[in-house]
Amino acid sequence: MRIKNLQEYHEAYSLSVEKPEQFWADIANEFEWIKPFTKVLDWSFDDYSVKWFEDGQMNITANALDRHLKTIPDQAAIVYEPNEPGDEAITLTYRQLHARVCKFSNVLKAQGVNKGDRVCIYMPMIPELAIAVLACARIGAIHSVVFGGFSAQSISDRINDSQCKLVITTDGAVRGNKTIPMKETVDDALVSCPCVETVIVKTRTKTPIPMLKGRDLWWEEEEIQASDVCVPEAMNAEDPLFILYTSGSTGKPKGVVHTCGGYMVYTAYTFANVFQYNPGDVFFCTADIGWITGHSYLVYGPLLNGAISVLFEGIPTYPDAGRFWDIIKRHQVNIFYTAPTAIRSLMGFGDEFLVGKDLSSLRVLGSVGEPINVEAWQWYDEKIGKGNCPIVDTWWQTETGGLMISPIAGITPLKPAFATLPLPGVQPILVDENGKEIEGNGVNGNLCIKYPWPSIIRTTYGDHERCKTTYFSTYPGLYFTGDGCMRDEDGYYRITGRVDDVMNISGHRIGTAEVENAINMHTGVIESAVVGFPHDVKGQGIYAYVICEHPTINDELTRKDILATVARVIGPIAKPDKIQFVTGLPKTRSGKIMRRILRKVAEGEFGSLGDTSTLLDPSVVDSIIKGAL
Ligand code: WT7
Repeated sequence: MRIKNLQEYHEAYSLSVEKPEQFWADIANEFEWIKPFTKVLDWSFDDYSVKWFEDGQMNITANALDRHLKTIPDQAAIVYEPNEPGDEAITLTYRQLHARVCKFSNVLKAQGVNKGDRVCIYMPMIPELAIAVLACARIGAIHSVVFGGFSAQSISDRINDSQCKLVITTDGAVRGNKTIPMKETVDDALVSCPCVETVIVKTRTKTPIPMLKGRDLWWEEEEIQASDVCVPEAMNAEDPLFILYTSGSTGKPKGVVHTCGGYMVYTAYTFANVFQYNPGDVFFCTADIGWITGHSYLVYGPLLNGAISVLFEGIPTYPDAGRFWDIIKRHQVNIFYTAPTAIRSLMGFGDEFLVGKDLSSLRVLGSVGEPINVEAWQWYDEKIGKGNCPIVDTWWQTETGGLMISPIAGITPLKPAFATLPLPGVQPILVDENGKEIEGNGVNGNLCIKYPWPSIIRTTYGDHERCKTTYFSTYPGLYFTGDGCMRDEDGYYRITGRVDDVMNISGHRIGTAEVENAINMHTGVIESAVVGFPHDVKGQGIYAYVICEHPTINDELTRKDILATVARVIGPIAKPDKIQFVTGLPKTRSGKIMRRILRKVAEGEFGSLGDTSTLLDPSVVDSIIKGAL
């Protein structure tokens, strides 16, 4: 499974294109199957459907946990670094993690959770979050993790969309010097979720919280009574493993569905290869398990490889901007995987936070979530990697399940700010507006993938049509990523950013329509238009143009009120960085907002607005520019 040099990469790549079924079957056969598969792939991108290892049966936790009990039972699986740097780090060995997952699986079963039922998990970054995820997988329940920063409204939308019957949460959370309510937020959400029968609460902050008789249970009490023996459920490879909601260009987030077999094979394969993981290496992914990066490269990918995975509860700037470097020293981290926004933010705090930090354990660095600019890449390379650690700039998406275009650490020759080459099994293609393939090198286009890989999105929960139209209809016969991309003279890929109405704020995906809907819910707002704009630390910031009924009323306070409404509707991550009150928006005669113009104004480029003659009222533009100055 492990590629060892550039020639092997090229060989693996060619084989994966010429004989994809043979290529993936060989890799899949390295796992334990309850019932071996005989069919490898069945697919159509025209009437979208993909099935990998269709008639095989397996359980991902049997491969991520039980399999390692024979070889490395007492090696660390998860190393939990708590928010407070002085608090003891807690290690769960494979044996211990296995026992706790089995116990919690039995807790879920005792609550009537069956194979195929949906379970919502809303928790901070503590070991029990990983345990809850794995327990669902073990009994065949479909987990839907909702990032701990989302609002009650967002939680209830997600719970109702997939009809979860059980929710797992904590009393509260600690992040830096803040205590954040969790159970209370869940309680607010559940006011409008009749499908939820049970809530399981793990203690974290010992904050007083209401506990409803007949609905709410304490994790600790249930766990004590549960047996630590639980036979993993036999899952068909194509049974859903989880749902993860992500933003698109329309207002409503989509529940991306991944299935058991293909996701297992692809996350394990990409983890082993891209990071060149060696037995005993300590791997530290800073992402929250609430995002796909945490699912695939903090939990599943590492555990499937018997790796040691660091799970950090806190934030990079607490107690100070040297926290990541302290964690690297404390746990002797060999592979460090983070986002450009974190790198830029820490860079901004100055190099004094690096003084005296021993980073000599590091061997490989990774970047994920957004394009990394050359300046941040170089700082990462020099100051963190000391010029000695390859940086893998990994391009992928919630929908792809695993890494797609990325260097293989120490093997693929690097170029700053390039995701470099497609991994084996990935067949990228650039197309123009009309869907015509752009061949050759030194070109730009829209990035599509023309052949399925094992962890491709299977459907959007409860709405397969939406999956078809979103990903497979823009360019018939191709999976459309939504990203713009260049392929340089050497055939290297560089992702240039979204070409749809999706923003990337600090590596988090937020739809412009979602933020507009939230702003429009604010009293007195008539209409709004939201665009992304370049932001030094976040990559992109959110710029909102807002039309109010009473434009002369206290602007500053109204701005703050609107931010509060957005935080309440979506969550604090969606709060606009700038709000400009306007009296009109640039619309075409057919009523479409010309976002191109709004983007230019947000960027401060007033001179190059392009053709505005098709606007219904071109004078709006002047007044918007005046207001922006
Ligand atoms: C979008 C996916 C799965 C990664 C976490 C975010 C952007 C992701 C890169 C990269 C340039 C990147 C793309 C993509 N993106 N990685 N290495 N270089 N852009 O997952 O929330 O599903 O967002 O993030 O625009 O489409 P996501």
